[in-house]
Amino acid sequence: MDINLIKTQVDSDFREIASLEELEALRLKYLGRKGVVAQLTSSIPQLPPQERGQFGREVNQLKNKILSLFAEQEGLIAGLGREGKITPEEFALPGAVKELGHLHPLTQVTDEICAVFEAMGFSVVEGPEIESEFNNFTGLNIPLEHPSRDAFDTFYLRMPGSAQSRRPGKAGKLLLRSHTSPAQIRVMQSRRPPLAVVVPGRVYRPDAVDASHSFMFHQIEGFMVGRQIRFSDLKGALEVFAKAVFGKEIKMRFRPHFFPFTEPSAEADISCIICRGQGRAGSGQGKNCPVCHGKRWLEILGCGMIHPNVFKQVGYDPKKYAGFAFGMGVERIAMLKYGISDIRLFFQNDLRFLKQF
Ligand code: DAH
Repeated sequence: MDINLIKTQVDSDFREIASLEELEALRLKYLGRKGVVAQLTSSIPQLPPQERGQFGREVNQLKNKILSLFAEQEGLIAGLGREGKITPEEFALPGAVKELGHLHPLTQVTDEICAVFEAMGFSVVEGPEIESEFNNFTGLNIPLEHPSRDAFDTFYLRMPGSAQSRRPGKAGKLLLRSHTSPAQIRVMQSRRPPLAVVVPGRVYRPDAVDASHSFMFHQIEGFMVGRQIRFSDLKGALEVFAKAVFGKEIKMRFRPHFFPFTEPSAEADISCIICRGQGRAGSGQGKNCPVCHGKRWLEILGCGMIHPNVFKQVGYDPKKYAGFAFGMGVERIAMLKYGISDIRLFFQNDLRFLKQF
């Protein structure tokens, strides 16, 4: 093979290309396993020893030249195209996108949870992050002396031009909502039952940041109000949710609890997704499960039947209507679902973490 002849051939071949298919054909012709460069390389041992070095260098030069011609042509075809030579197919080629981003894992989990409830007939509503004291506490039957109202547990806003944070008017101070429950008040004040709503969103609490606390996190509130809503409806809806998000084998249990805005109230647990409710690590003997610490259950949310006082605050007749409500932390659900041990990972925006989802 005459290497100079080949060089001329390369030049004319690369002048003619009009599409990616043709470029691909050239790739096979020159760089393929049985291509021209491979043949030249394998012919080296047959040369007299004194010619091998020089020939080898020329083959290398040729190969580099071909590689740079490829890069150039690829860029032209994928980029702006060559003037006068663009084929209709090239116009339809997608842009040269190196890497697409995707939704944040918390957004993915929020969307997934909302979709489960939407499939059960719930609609998705959002509320503002700046709330009134009334919607965040009073309307929800949270008494004035409740510790969550303390400035250590809630961010109050200082209104411009006033020394204290008190804003005149019935609604009282403004604050950053400390939970998504105030959406219950907003929705019930503006609509009549029957209602089935989920409310995802950010909430704020003045907590010191550590592996399990953040001053901002996400919750999903849900509630249903109608004439004959029972606790069993709550259990059914939450069981559908837990199985959809954590898997069909999951078991659920409800423990009595207290919340001012529900009566009765409960906390809902799922059987530990790591040890499958066995409480033990690995094969079943030995150490406690590292996720549930041997407790077999993982708390996932708070819930209950909406308190009659809440209905009174929004002008619903508690004799006529009943409803259930629940609230969950999105970070917690995501951490359990994916085995994430530190809440700060969600907010550091380290691509090595984010790319895993
Ligand atoms: N708002 C509660 C919290 O932030 C969560 C919650 C508990 C919401 C029980 C509810 C509920 O709707 O019924 O801790």
